[in-house]
Amino acid sequence: MKKVKKAVIPAAGFGTRFLPATKAMAKEMLPIVDKPTIQFIVEEAIESGIEDILIVTGKSKRPIEDHFDSNIELETNLRDKGKDDLLKLVQETTGIRIHFVRQSYPLGLGHAVLQAKAFVGDEPFVVMLGDDLMKDEVPLTRQLIEGYERTYASTIAVMEVPHEETSKYGIIDPDNQLEEGLLNVRRFVEKPKPEDAPSNYAIIGRYLLTPEIFEILENQEAGAGGEIQLTDAIDTLNKTQRVFAKNFKGQRFDVGDKFGFLATSITYGLQHPEMKDKLKDYIIALGESLEQTEK
Ligand code: G1P
Repeated sequence: MKKVKKAVIPAAGFGTRFLPATKAMAKEMLPIVDKPTIQFIVEEAIESGIEDILIVTGKSKRPIEDHFDSNIELETNLRDKGKDDLLKLVQETTGIRIHFVRQSYPLGLGHAVLQAKAFVGDEPFVVMLGDDLMKDEVPLTRQLIEGYERTYASTIAVMEVPHEETSKYGIIDPDNQLEEGLLNVRRFVEKPKPEDAPSNYAIIGRYLLTPEIFEILENQEAGAGGEIQLTDAIDTLNKTQRVFAKNFKGQRFDVGDKFGFLATSITYGLQHPEMKDKLKDYIIALGESLEQTEK
């Protein structure tokens, strides 16, 4: 059995939900407190045992490449000023085996993943979407890899969402359980309207896939929103080999949405060693003043 050592992070999207902030800046570089969202994803990959990461980029994404490179001028400056803690932070993001490929045309998530074909070769791999940050005792990507080591099958992370929100997600039609939390799937559908959705189990941005997905993606026609959808290719894969859904029990933070981004910033801020006390006091005071104005 081949080990799962490679991750693909699609990061070519325009980030239209965050305009004008993302007009000239990669949305993946928007920080949660002081760390770019994409760094959380890279850290999850490394903590899960991934050795090589491919980031699929597009226009305005150079800052991502620079972030994971050394910055000699900055490092020298911090060293000279004795700012060793900051120097350590800056150096944490270098030396990781990160590779880049550009998606020349924004034809959809399936098309972005197809750009990873040569990088992945004939190995199982993971796809990690930057809009979803996950928290659990064992990183979700690690959970998917551990599952693969038992089943040798593609496995897609899912979570229940409010039924009225199904049109924002890929949704599964769940079948019986293989084991606790691991479901067989009848069908994968991209962004169904609530009245057409086969369940409220949504795909949440972590996928473990076998390399046979590439052959399917090469012939995949455009689906929902006129885009080449990864969900549609997974549905086809499920017809020739088993694809499981893993019901994630940890916490998911949607940083691809403005409200989700703010909520995540507050939650992470309340856990940040430098921020937490000040932020807590601020929130309590804010709550009190809101109560006053409502009276
Ligand atoms: C993508 C996928 C969708 C999935 C979602 C999770 O959609 O196409 O199946 O449920 O990510 O965040 P997007 O949010 O890019 O429109």
